[in-house]
Amino acid sequence: MIERTRPRAVSAICETWRAQGRRIAFVPTMGALHAGHLSLVRRARRDADRVVTSIFVNPLQFGPREDFARYPRALARDRALLRAHGVDLLFRPAVGDIYPAGDATRVQVTGLDQPLCGRSRPGHFTGVATVVLKLLEIVRPHVLWLGQKDAQQAAIVERMVRDLRLGVRVRRAPIVRDRDGLALSSRNAYLSPAERAQALGLWRGLQAARAAVRRRTRSAAVLRRVVKAVWRSHPGLRPDYMEVVDPRTLEPAAAIRGRVLIAVAGYVGRTRLIDNLLVAPPAARRRRGAA
Ligand code: PAF
Repeated sequence: MIERTRPRAVSAICETWRAQGRRIAFVPTMGALHAGHLSLVRRARRDADRVVTSIFVNPLQFGPREDFARYPRALARDRALLRAHGVDLLFRPAVGDIYPAGDATRVQVTGLDQPLCGRSRPGHFTGVATVVLKLLEIVRPHVLWLGQKDAQQAAIVERMVRDLRLGVRVRRAPIVRDRDGLALSSRNAYLSPAERAQALGLWRGLQAARAAVRRRTRSAAVLRRVVKAVWRSHPGLRPDYMEVVDPRTLEPAAAIRGRVLIAVAGYVGRTRLIDNLLVAPPAARRRRGAA
């Protein structure tokens, strides 16, 4: 595995690969890798000749009271994992490589950045869109792999790629869960065993909502009550939101007619966690051939 810190070096290597007709897949990360990231790498590996991964804890997407300083960093382990998973090039820029002195340009995907996490994390998605655009410009991959766990982030990046005609195919990989159902996240490392038990309320709420849809509940307001009832039995979980939205536009859906995204977020102690589930009424699932 080649490892580079300088954008120019990464662009040169990728340019050579493109000139050789190699198809490049890109998996951007902030490190502290888990099986969710590795599933992205595995999918990228299957769908391209060269896999590029970045590790960059992007300061621009953290609010002043968020966990930038304590965000888990595990470079030696990450490097070994990426090597073992056949990554060809690891890009590990310094902050000054991405945001050189005088850097002033920001990318805002208006509208999509407002609901869900946008309400409690103002500026977060501008940070994400800005860094992803910069990374895409450096790597210029054919395919970009993102995780469904960050569904709002994926919707925002997809819209940016479409609006700016970036010419990269964006693909989403399903959420990877631990055996108990907790969605994998680098932030799970912050949780004590007791906190983890409370965090599971997020997934249990989603499961209860799915079961309600299968029992023919079609009202988002009823689903909200179902989820909140589950959350009440997890008093250590401080809910941020539970929303039923269109998966692409993130606009609220009052009724479950087609496929909707049920998105949840909450705090356990100081740790903020998110999760989501795509659900559809049985008829819509049959039409789409969904499981
Ligand atoms: O999902 C993440 O890890 C980050 O938001 C990303 C896409 C690497 C941008 O910093």
